[in-house]
Formats: sequence, structure tokens, C-alpha cells
Amino acid sequence: MLTIAMPKGRIFEEAAELLRRAGYKLPPEFDDSRKLIIDVPEENIRFILAKPMDVVTYVEHGVADLGIAGKDVMLEEDRDVYEVLDLKISACYLAVAGLPNAKAVSVAPKIATKYPAVASRYFREQGEQVEIIKLNGSIELAPLIGLAERIVDIVSTGRTLKENGLVELERIEDITSRLIVNPVSYRMKDQFIDDMVERLSACLEGVN
Ligand code: PRP
Repeated sequence: MLTIAMPKGRIFEEAAELLRRAGYKLPPEFDDSRKLIIDVPEENIRFILAKPMDVVTYVEHGVADLGIAGKDVMLEEDRDVYEVLDLKISACYLAVAGLPNAKAVSVAPKIATKYPAVASRYFREQGEQVEIIKLNGSIELAPLIGLAERIVDIVSTGRTLKENGLVELERIEDITSRLIVNPVSYRMKDQFIDDMVERLSACLEGVN
């Protein structure tokens, strides 16, 4: 049996749709169940539903053989997992944003983000000294209430920035979801995993 860690939330729907397109028969209750473990015996697959940031942890520890994780999480967390396929779903990007016409702060401006490692690396590469403030969500609040001058966050439709009067300042990196694999599972269950990768790749062909 394969265990797959699925991210709850906005990636879930697209991931489930992709698995169905690849021919996996997922039961209807898959979509709006509150269950955290869903067995699909017909496919010999167990799904576990985790927070997106935790999917990599389940896979790294081997309690899930595979997982679907955003590239944003992979960039933030240096984990011992293999990234085997770009699923090309949940496309978005990481960007620096802030209030329009904000006055430049001369020494170490504050940057609020859910991605402290990505943000530190980015500003180091830019040669700018900043102070990183880690938040867990609603990052766009930070400049509005004076916690930080700028933010580093995911932009998808751009609505959250717009509706909060923020502007994108720099684009950091494009993000899509990836299929990740535990290294031991990859050796022990290679046939099943290769089969899944092939089926998913086949339905991704032609998708840019
Ligand atoms: C993400 C991201 C932005 C928003 C971007 O937040 O952190 O806030 O989505 O999407 P948009 O460009 O389509 O508006 P999420 O909904 O995951 O919530 P959280 O960051 O508050 O946890």
C-alpha cells in the first residue's frame, strides 16, 4: 500500500482533480470529508490530509511514502526527500510587496513573512540587510499596522495585495506543486511509485 500526504486547503482540490485525471478512482466523500485518513482500497492507497507545511515532515519521516507539496515549502525547508515531478498545479509566485510610495528605511528594514529562510536568502543575495519577522498567516497585515515595511509572500490572483492597498515590488520565484518521495520508499516501492509518476506525467503532457 502507498501512503500519500495531501495538503489540506487550496492545493487539495487541484491535486484531487489531477489524480482523478490520471485514472485514480477517488470516492466522492474524498472532497468534503473531515477525515484525516482516507483509505481507497480499490487503488491500494491511503491518503493522509495534512497542513501544506507539514506534508514534507510526514514524507521525510517515512510515515507517508509520497506527498504533494508546494515548491514554496520545498524552498523554505531543507528536507531529506526527493522531488520527482512538477505537477504544474497551484501556480503562483513568491514576491516582495509593500505599501506604495513607502519611505525607504535606511537601516535594516523589517520584512514580515511565512518564509524566513527564503526571505533571508533573497535579501542576502540582493546585498540588503533586513530584519526578518516570522508570521504564520495574514502576512499582508504587517505593513498596514506598522509591524514591517515590506512582506515576502505568495501571490496567486493578486487580490489580497490589491484589496489591502499593497503593491508588488519584486518577483522572487515561480511556484507550483511537486510530487515528493521518501528516499527509502523510493527504493522499496519503486514499481508502485514509478507507476504513479508515469500516470501523472502522462496526463501532464502538453500542460505548460
Ligand atoms: C495566501 C498568501 C496570500 C494569498 C495570496 O494566503 O499568503 O495571503 O494567499 O492569494 P491571492 O493573490 O490570490 O490573493 P492563504 O490564503 O494561504 O492564507 P494565510 O497566508 O493567511 O495562511
